[in-house]
Amino acid sequence: MKFGLERIAVEVPRHSLDLALLAEARGVDVKKYHQGIGQEFMAVPSPDEDVVTLGAAAAERALEGVDRNRIRTVIFATESGVDQSKAAAIYVHKLLGLPRNCRTVEMKQACCSGTSALHFALASVALEPESKILVICADIARYGLGTAGEPTQGAGAVAMVVSSQPKIATINPKVGYFTDDVMDFWRPNYREEALVDGKYSIKVYMHALEQACKAYHIETGEGFDSFQHFCYHLPFTRMGLKAHLHLAKVVESSLTGSELHAQVQPSLQLNPKTGNAYTASLYMGLLSLLEQQEDLAGRKVGMFSYGSGCMGAFFSLEILAGYKEALPQESSQEILAKREALDMATYETWYETRMPQDGSAFDTPHISDRPFRFAGVADHKRRYERLDGRLEHSSSSASEHFVAAPLPDS
Ligand code: HMG
Repeated sequence: MKFGLERIAVEVPRHSLDLALLAEARGVDVKKYHQGIGQEFMAVPSPDEDVVTLGAAAAERALEGVDRNRIRTVIFATESGVDQSKAAAIYVHKLLGLPRNCRTVEMKQACCSGTSALHFALASVALEPESKILVICADIARYGLGTAGEPTQGAGAVAMVVSSQPKIATINPKVGYFTDDVMDFWRPNYREEALVDGKYSIKVYMHALEQACKAYHIETGEGFDSFQHFCYHLPFTRMGLKAHLHLAKVVESSLTGSELHAQVQPSLQLNPKTGNAYTASLYMGLLSLLEQQEDLAGRKVGMFSYGSGCMGAFFSLEILAGYKEALPQESSQEILAKREALDMATYETWYETRMPQDGSAFDTPHISDRPFRFAGVADHKRRYERLDGRLEHSSSSASEHFVAAPLPDS
């Protein structure tokens, strides 16, 4: 039996900031952003968008044509969580009307928890092949106004349905892992922005890449030449290219520069327009690759996931015949092209917007045009809405074998 990706879909905030505006405001040569780090736009969430609304919208797209009653688990991977206790997966579960006999959980390890979620999902469907697992990776990358990390900020979500009826790709369950205790990037509980040792983080990323690849080779016997394409975690777009050239050098690849570029370039088409979306970045790279015109059926893809702190994971997948029919009808590029441009003043105002910290009632301004929005807080409780005005999706709590009893009143 094969296990892997049945569906994959993306969501981004409604607005984006042209980095030419940021360069002008910060007195930086725009070529540093465009060529040096490879970024053109930054996805910017409005005050009524968060990881729940982004993740729910990506999941709604990913679930098109999928029997929702077969979803057994929702795994939400993020480092931009909205609660220290309650999983973002529960909010999404409600917004999407998923079955009540469903497990919901949130996972964290910087940018690579989405990859662990994917492999936990694979293990789950291997045990219960009739089930489907919804994996959501959603994040908002924040560094600080005027910092070196600012132009790499971004946001977005990717949702994937993992099952025993993969239509897009099979995933090899073997993974090469690398973990070490490193302070290259972290966000203490009392901070809204990450702390980062930028140049050091790049060195650690490269080290984790080498070690995870080595571990993968020991696990599987497969190496650099086993793959036709590569996707990398993309904290900024140039990192993907740098990482690939670095790996090629380490393994003494005989491929030419243009052959190496061709292996990685197709996965680098979305990130310049979104910026870092932490857990979602690697999988936006995968979508970018899958949405290329060329038919990639039968090709093997090497995937490198990196999460600061740090953990690296190298794994692989094989693209299935007919995969294009399982991709969402609206391409990611089309979704990105519909975004609205933001000016610097609004970007900075939104950036500085803070929710009240004492739980007092708070309504967000209605800005998002996405299917779900974060409406505000009352009595320390977050409120989410669908754009059609209903507070919750009409829940399909019934499955073939289980009908949930109503909740007791509070
Ligand atoms: P910086 O110090 O401002 O930039 O920060 P720089 O001076 O290193 O320049 C960047 C590149 O632009 C260089 O290219 C320059 O030469 C070039 P390189 O030498 O590296 O090839 N450049 C120009 N090119 C053309 N025209 C010009 C020009 N000027 C300079 N005029 C840094 C860069 C990435 C460090 C910063 O943005 C940062 O701190 N970012 C955040 C941290 C980060 O992204 N780290 C990546 C690895 S860690 C990771 O991936 C995990 C993460 O996603 C978090 C998680 O796991 O949760 C971050």
